[in-house]
Amino acid sequence: MHLPFSAKVARLALAGTCAVAFPVLAADPPKGNIEAAKAKVSMCIGCHGIPGYRASFPEVYSVPKIAGQNDKYIQVALRAYATGERTHPTMDAISKSLSDQDIADLAAYYANLK
Ligand code: HEC
Repeated sequence: MHLPFSAKVARLALAGTCAVAFPVLAADPPKGNIEAAKAKVSMCIGCHGIPGYRASFPEVYSVPKIAGQNDKYIQVALRAYATGERTHPTMDAISKSLSDQDIADLAAYYANLK
């Protein structure tokens, strides 16, 4: 079937509209869900939730404060550990076990935590 050029353009425009109307279908990064994160932070609070932000195993070392940190910054940091761009023994292991959705949820949770 031969469509006039203008009809093709109209179809393309329509396809574009659909992508906007159904963002779930697009390959956008997942949106963080603070409620869902509450079931996941148990693996983080052992280190990131302690007063003074220090962990004591295997030796005393400082742990960065992530509560109230920027959402994007947390996501970037977790992906950097997962890809090996940043390295830290525990954070490497933990970040690799997280899905994109986990990272988005945890980042939203910690960014919202004061
Ligand atoms: C065993 C202790 C431990 C656990 C458990 C842990 N972290 Fe960490 N985390 C650290 C330490 C130590 C660092 C700093 C590492 C470094 O210097 O790169 C860190 C760094 C980070 C950073 C980067 C902070 C910055 O300022 O750049 C983020 C984000 C983070 N952790 C999130 C998490 C999340 C989310 C969890 C739970 C899924 C988690 N961590 C679990 C110890 C831990």
